[in-house]
Amino acid sequence: MKKYYISTFGCQMNFHDSEKISGVLNAEGYAEAGGPSDADVIIFNTCSIRQKAEQKFFSQLGKMKAFKKRNPGLKIAVAGCIAQQEGDRIIQKAPFIDYVIGPQNINLLKDFILNEEKAIATQDNPYLQDTDLPAERADTVKALVNIMYGCNNFCSYCIVPYTRGREKSRAAASIVREINELSQKGFKEVTLLGQNVNSYKSEVDFPGLLERIKKIEGIKRIRFVTSHPKDLSEDLIFAIRDYENVCEHIHLPLQSGSSRVLGLMNRKYTYDEYLKKILTIRKEIPDISITSDIIAGFPQETDEDHEETINALKEIEFDGIFAFKYSQRPGTTASLMEGQIEDAVKSVRLYEILDLQNKITEKKNKYLERTTQEILIEGPSEKGHDKLTGRTRTNKIFIAPLHDGKKPGDIVSGLVTKANRHSLYGEFV
Ligand code: SAH
Ligand code: SF4
Ligand code: F3S
Repeated sequence: MKKYYISTFGCQMNFHDSEKISGVLNAEGYAEAGGPSDADVIIFNTCSIRQKAEQKFFSQLGKMKAFKKRNPGLKIAVAGCIAQQEGDRIIQKAPFIDYVIGPQNINLLKDFILNEEKAIATQDNPYLQDTDLPAERADTVKALVNIMYGCNNFCSYCIVPYTRGREKSRAAASIVREINELSQKGFKEVTLLGQNVNSYKSEVDFPGLLERIKKIEGIKRIRFVTSHPKDLSEDLIFAIRDYENVCEHIHLPLQSGSSRVLGLMNRKYTYDEYLKKILTIRKEIPDISITSDIIAGFPQETDEDHEETINALKEIEFDGIFAFKYSQRPGTTASLMEGQIEDAVKSVRLYEILDLQNKITEKKNKYLERTTQEILIEGPSEKGHDKLTGRTRTNKIFIAPLHDGKKPGDIVSGLVTKANRHSLYGEFV
């Protein structure tokens, strides 16, 4: 039996694409290898969102030359966003690579492997939204489900519209079919995936899609990423408020607290507009958790702009953020802007952002001490064999000792006895 090994970088979208690559290869009679050294095919599912992500892949790729020398029959595939961005250049750089497959073409991987010859697929796939590939899922309680592919927003810093192509929404019926099957297999939670779920459009819009999914029996929790603030509608806010199985958490990337910088980023909202949406969300759903993304040191960002981001973090008090130094991406308009910021300045700004947010996150988690939360148990905890880990509806990690045969997939009450920045600790009650 031939074996494959997949190394995945990047976002949940890529993680799920890897589940599909596994599903397709399993259906072809391949088995998953324990590690790269006993694989007949190694697949890198790559990410190019920031230079660091790219570097991680290239340093792993460097090791492959020796692997291939030892085992000349070994096939190496590069998939994901770097594959799309680099196309055949990547084979020129590293001639030992056999296949280059962009995110819209993973369905072709098995044909490539069976044909054995070097091959590249980076073309637009007009049928992507109708291509339902079997996924070999890493989890048994929660599952990722694509609802749309691509992005039309062209935020000026971002590579995604170039690597994932234009927005394509999957038909509601096939999404519902997939989630029905997941429910029958015992999955309790789904996370709907899209770069901008609020612009989902089939015969229904995104709140309309949630309305259909919420009726699927057995699915106790519905989550979704990512929401673009410009398209966040009142209907979506009402759906989160009113539909019992839609979780009270929204990831709403702000990027910057300066409206001037937001303009340069082509985000299509001002800070005030963003804040207004936050206030509406919190008015309708007081216990919701809101998380965000921030970029430090965008071109032309002044100390005053940075100060506005700091003030925004203080004003909004997110439950958590992902923050990164701005990274110049090839082909994006921001990469050509004048006034690129020195790395040392970016580092200082990022540090200030993270330092402030860490305190806010910890403070918000501490508010939950002595409260009882609904927990979906996900599995054994890394903190010890005698503990289980799960999440609150608001997507916070909850860790508690084993109790009364409670097991992954159960929805239980958890009393929070202690909270820190990363997790809540407590007991099942
Ligand atoms: N579609 C999603 C997220 C895509 S990428 C959205 O619009 O929110 C995830 C995050 O990576 C972005 O929110 C942004 O904060 C960050 N990011 C994207 N490009 C970047 C770049 N060139 N440099 C630094 N951070 C970047
Ligand atoms: Fe990138 Fe903007 Fe699209 Fe998100 S919405 S993927 S940040 S271009
Ligand atoms: Fe995801 Fe990275 Fe591509 S974040 S969309 S894998 S560039």
